[in-house]
Amino acid sequence: MKILVIGGGGREHAIAWRLAREPGVTVWASPGNPGIARSATCLAPPRPGVDGYLQVAESVQPDLTVVGPEAPLVAGITDAFQGRGFRVLGPERKAAQLEASKIFAKQVMAEAAIPTAAYRVTQTFDQAMECIREFSYPLVLKADGLAAGKGVVIAHDQPEAERAVRALHSALGPRIVIEEFLHGEEASFIVLSDGAKVIPLEASQDHKTIRENDEGPNTGGMGAYCDGRILTPAQTAEILDRVIHPAIHYMSARGTPFTGFLYAGLMVTPQGVKVLEFNVRLGDPETQSLLHRIQGGFANALYAAASGNLAGVDLDWKTGPSVCVVLASAGYPEQPRIGDPISGIQEAEDSGAVVFHAGTRLGPAGLETSGGRVLGVTASGGDLRQAIDNAYRGVSAIHFEGMQFRKDIGRKGLKRW
Ligand code: AMP
Ligand code: GLY
Repeated sequence: MKILVIGGGGREHAIAWRLAREPGVTVWASPGNPGIARSATCLAPPRPGVDGYLQVAESVQPDLTVVGPEAPLVAGITDAFQGRGFRVLGPERKAAQLEASKIFAKQVMAEAAIPTAAYRVTQTFDQAMECIREFSYPLVLKADGLAAGKGVVIAHDQPEAERAVRALHSALGPRIVIEEFLHGEEASFIVLSDGAKVIPLEASQDHKTIRENDEGPNTGGMGAYCDGRILTPAQTAEILDRVIHPAIHYMSARGTPFTGFLYAGLMVTPQGVKVLEFNVRLGDPETQSLLHRIQGGFANALYAAASGNLAGVDLDWKTGPSVCVVLASAGYPEQPRIGDPISGIQEAEDSGAVVFHAGTRLGPAGLETSGGRVLGVTASGGDLRQAIDNAYRGVSAIHFEGMQFRKDIGRKGLKRW
């Protein structure tokens, strides 16, 4: 089976790496990156946007296309590929609104009775200013559209909320969701859906801020771990029953069935599990830790989901937790510096870790940084302590100037259990 992976970050490296290990699968990627090139044939799209990817597909003629990032999904890549007869895994444009519009996601949650933070939608500057006077603090402000992690502000008092309204309005437009701040433990719960049936993946946890102990500005994710204890069986059942199945049924009933990976960003609160956000794709860096633990059945499951036929399909999981530590460039997240030479990846892999590439490129002198999040060093272990040690052993072999990473990935789990 020929599979084309769309994207070129750490998540797509993990997808391509896993698929390349499945019997009978050859992997192509567009645009890919130097790490993905070890598992797949990488093709740069001849022009930007969905049309460029369509041209790649016309030349590769894949049996299945798997779309990694949200931007092409929101731009309608699935609709376009299906229109040309290609089998593709990922929601159609209308279903991708679950991630593209926070207001739409909140409406779906309200209508499908999915537990989430209490909220108000504001459409103008004056409405937003009035609303922040009425809410209690802290409160959370979210721009409506895609904002690559920069559209959410937690405000602790009214002056901070006013500054946030001004900043969000000028950068991202007037439509914002203002919502109650939820206390609890975050978890990422992702399912593979064929439009009606789902296969849940193991729960994982992202580490959003740049520094240890959840301090500093938010990033795209500085690391993740995956451990069967992040959610209890009762919590998993509650999430399937109250979040996932209602969302899938609702999307299907309104004529925009959801096919692909549905990601629920959750807060586990004393009052039960509540949804912070939906994403319409696998998480990054959650995927790196998740796919390190899958040992078979991945290509088959993706093909079955894209064909609307997940009945009887299973994934084969390794027992034992996994950890992904992200190595970020100097200046990330504000102003990532690029062009720093990278060394030690081979040594890290010799130590047993898998190093997924996110922001790397080949320069005249070899591999160098090309983005904010550069590498995801990933390892499993018999228990969480071992998985953490194995990942950080890999990290210690790698060097580039200004390299930043958190030293506490997975440590919350060690404290909890
Ligand atoms: P989102 O993009 O909606 O997931 O928000 C990004 C991050 O902001 C989340 O991962 C949480 O850490 C935090 N966050 C979002 N909404 C809330 C909320 N209602 N209460 C507390 N924290 C939140
Ligand atoms: N790790 C969070 C995300 O992928 O949105």
